[in-house]
Amino acid sequence: MCGIVGYMGSQEASQVIMNGLKMLEYRGYDSAGICTMDLGDVEIRRSSGKLVNLERLLNEQPLHGTIGIGHTRWATHGKPSVANAHPHKGGAVVVVHNGIIENYLALKEELTSRGHTFLSETDSEVVSHLIDENLKTATSLEEAVRRALKDLQGAYALCILSQMDDKTLIAAKSGSPMVVGIKGDEYFVASDMPAIISNTREMVIMEDGEMAVFRNGGVKFSTLGGEEIIKTPRYIDWSPLMAEKNGYPNFMLKEIHEQPRSIKNVIAGRLHVDEGDVFFEGLELDDSALRAFERLCLVACGTSWHAALAGKYMIEEYCRIPVDVEIASEFRYRDPMVSKKTLVIPISQSGETADTLAALREAKSRGAHIVSICNVVDSSIARESDGVIYTHAGLEIGVASTKAFTTQLVALYMLAIRLGRANGIIDLGKGQEMIAALGRLPALVEKTLELDPQIEEVACEYLTCWDAIYLGRGISYPIALEGALKLKEISYIHADGYPAGEMKHGPIALIDREMPVFILAPNDKHLVKVRSNMEEVITRGGRVVAFCSEGDLETGKRAEFALQIPWGGEALSTVLFAVALQLLAYNFAILKGKDVDQPRNLAKSVTVE
Ligand code: G6P
Repeated sequence: MCGIVGYMGSQEASQVIMNGLKMLEYRGYDSAGICTMDLGDVEIRRSSGKLVNLERLLNEQPLHGTIGIGHTRWATHGKPSVANAHPHKGGAVVVVHNGIIENYLALKEELTSRGHTFLSETDSEVVSHLIDENLKTATSLEEAVRRALKDLQGAYALCILSQMDDKTLIAAKSGSPMVVGIKGDEYFVASDMPAIISNTREMVIMEDGEMAVFRNGGVKFSTLGGEEIIKTPRYIDWSPLMAEKNGYPNFMLKEIHEQPRSIKNVIAGRLHVDEGDVFFEGLELDDSALRAFERLCLVACGTSWHAALAGKYMIEEYCRIPVDVEIASEFRYRDPMVSKKTLVIPISQSGETADTLAALREAKSRGAHIVSICNVVDSSIARESDGVIYTHAGLEIGVASTKAFTTQLVALYMLAIRLGRANGIIDLGKGQEMIAALGRLPALVEKTLELDPQIEEVACEYLTCWDAIYLGRGISYPIALEGALKLKEISYIHADGYPAGEMKHGPIALIDREMPVFILAPNDKHLVKVRSNMEEVITRGGRVVAFCSEGDLETGKRAEFALQIPWGGEALSTVLFAVALQLLAYNFAILKGKDVDQPRNLAKSVTVE
């Protein structure tokens, strides 16, 4: 999510780092900072907004030294501001961090009681103080870092300096990306290859649980436990553009493949396994306040509206609270019936969609309590809400939403757990079971991604079609809608999503040998009915592609293609089916030679009515 650059060599570090950060700026970060070390003194420059602000600051107050670290931030914990910008300094230690420290609140409390003063709202600052605390008793910075890392829960890529040791730079990684570039006795560290590829193509890709200590013109790689490892640099022959996309041909595919990680991020630090419950740092409503709401109203546009529809199924089923789902552009103009007893939940990736923002304001003016589900921290919708649940999907660049959608589904599932635990409909055992299913989800997403070759075959077969129908029942219906939208958006093939049972009331007239019918048939309570719907299509000569659950070899027998999607439980299987349908739309669009990242006429964030 954030960008990191570190340098140790013979050039002015601030210049090398600034050049690296510029290569990451296309992602649109919100603040940046650099720290260099010169003759034992550490100096930091930070600024909010675009990188040009930091550049201006460095022109006025240059930084010297041949060792340094830098960071561009995409806010997750704490709003974009100078105080929240990295690098963070705790005592003698300076860090830049990418990832989420799940147990930062507990660590912060502990360190505050030991006299540490915190200056930011970030989870990252805790790392600098923790290392500084360990430095009091350790024999070296390296030892202090190792000890501190043992106490961290969550994901991190870190670069660390200390004014107690002006010859050492340390990098460590667990869960967030990090590469080391080597050119003679110059060393470059980065979260992303584009930041350093113009300096060197000899790169070492760090793995989780590894640490690199740069000192006296050399580097030593080791496990976090201290065991030395030999890592051989490999030559990266990617173009700078390929490197931006981490080797993927476009951002959409990169973002589709990032979903296991983004799902880990939305879950991170929020699960209370023993209590079978979920904790949202930005919800700020206790059990009795949650119980007081008579109904929920989810309001959104586009893909986020599809997540809202799936959310209705989850919340009504698990919590027995009535949920209305509204299209934001409709809601705002029809004298909506919301009151103090309504919990209104705007859902938005960007947090800037004009209609969703207007709907939020409309609901607020009628006294509703607003808790939004947003991806972009401190966006307008987030700022104007009474509480926010961030999806932590990371920056989404592809116009067609992918990882933002699946993290919205997961956030809604977690909200269902919270509401159900608050009103007692979900008991401890059920809560624990639901949480366990969440823990299994990232690996199941990985497994779903492996279906890509089979999905590509399907796209090849129906490539010349003009229309497609997606059918699903129950919670699979919103996923059918989302599958159809993805296909329309990026391949320009007309597609509709329907509740499978509704097909006989109209769409069945369209069945012919040209139009594929994509049927979502997870192994849930609707399966028998969905099979009948499938038969109705086949008997009329329709061409069926069945998306079944793994192990179900029966349902797809009479279909032209049957794909086996891993089973993640009734509600969370939506995520896995959504991933398969993203790949389907993607393959159609690529085979047709379309620009998937910037489809015609569409915008990532629609800030006009
Ligand atoms: C645009 C985008 C869609 C997105 C919709 C809502 O139409 O192209 O991908 O789903 O806006 O955006 P939001 O940022 O509010 O989720």
